[in-house]
Amino acid sequence: MLKLDLTHSKLNEDLASYQEKVNEAHGWLHNKTGKGNDYVGWVNWPNDYDKEEFGRILKISEKLKGKFDVLLVCGIGGSYLGARAALEMIRGLYPLEGPEVIFIGNTFSNTYLSQVLKHIEGKDVVLNVISKSGTTTETSVAFRIFKQYIEKRYGKKEAQERIIATTDKNRGTLKELADKEGYEEFVVPDDIGGRYSVFTAVGLLPLALAGVDIKELMEGSKLAYEDFNSPELEKNAAYRYAVARRILNKKGYSSEMFVTYHLQLTMIAEWWKQLFGESEGKDGNGLLPTSACYSTDLHSLGQFVQDGQKCLYETLLLIDEMPLDITFPSDEENLDGMNYLSGKQVSWVNKMAMEGTLSAHSEVGGVPNIIINLKDNSAKSFGYMIYFFFKACGMTCYLLDINPFNQPGVEVYKKKMFKLLGKPE
Ligand code: PA5
Repeated sequence: MLKLDLTHSKLNEDLASYQEKVNEAHGWLHNKTGKGNDYVGWVNWPNDYDKEEFGRILKISEKLKGKFDVLLVCGIGGSYLGARAALEMIRGLYPLEGPEVIFIGNTFSNTYLSQVLKHIEGKDVVLNVISKSGTTTETSVAFRIFKQYIEKRYGKKEAQERIIATTDKNRGTLKELADKEGYEEFVVPDDIGGRYSVFTAVGLLPLALAGVDIKELMEGSKLAYEDFNSPELEKNAAYRYAVARRILNKKGYSSEMFVTYHLQLTMIAEWWKQLFGESEGKDGNGLLPTSACYSTDLHSLGQFVQDGQKCLYETLLLIDEMPLDITFPSDEENLDGMNYLSGKQVSWVNKMAMEGTLSAHSEVGGVPNIIINLKDNSAKSFGYMIYFFFKACGMTCYLLDINPFNQPGVEVYKKKMFKLLGKPE
């Protein structure tokens, strides 16, 4: 389902020399004995996930099916990136089926929020507010605005049916509010942090409401859970990827650029950036996670990658089977001189662009390339790939002796902002 190709990675160091360290870190992850061990609930989740709640997710998505035009998903960071990444990867950017999904609560942009309010006029909406802490300011600001909009439009009683809350099981402002308002509630488990939560209701509920097959998605995560369960590097591609990242970082590369070749995968890159950035970027450590979508960004960042400072390596996410191909038409007059491509599939052109770029960057530019090959863009493959990255991220951080599950640095901007906003202590 997923293959890791290190042929172009220029590691010049044997992965096997890390085996002992990997064994130890694997033990920390699996026996809950490493840093941040209260948050390793995601490790066994594909097997142990809450089946009762999963059933409730299916039930409510079935109940609401066809009853709304727009799904508003209100959350930020780990409380929205996974669902958005999945949706775009699986459905594409202009899906012909399913409701429109709009993400709010991830910005203070007044223009954006105002335009969304205008955009949904006359369309039936359902809102899923998602916050583990229940107090995240971006989410709370958008939620109050849209909650009042929904109540005004549908009345308090119907608003109860149209708003669903995903938050902590027992505590937090959102939990209290949801209890009081009588919203249907779903849970972010205590031992799973935001960026590791896409397999919980945080990701599954909006995906199910949008019509994604979440059973298939969980099946993919389970397969990956089984495939990446061994500490042996030879058997575990997630750990090989983690070690390759460490080796390249040690060689002096300070940034990893996550490269895709389909615009509908850019949110996968955003999700990946959060996972690795928030998990690894601590105490002066970590690779700067950056991203590009080629060939689009070859016309912006390509110059730097080819010829600029040698600070980065690329990690390519290549998907073998993408749907909806187009055969390039011939043209009698050939005024644009493009007839040399007549009869070729656009997917083939994209593949040639990839192969040419790989050779240019790797062989001519000396840029190391890690290649991740994924079978297709199905929900199952998404689930498989996400678990692969979870495991790789946990391992990379433990190899650096870093807690992968907190984000103390994020609090600094919040404190400064709260002071300026006059938030009561
Ligand atoms: O990974 C994380 O924990 C964070 O990115 C959170 O998901 C993000 O800050 C949102 O937090 P919350 O769900 O509490 O609103």
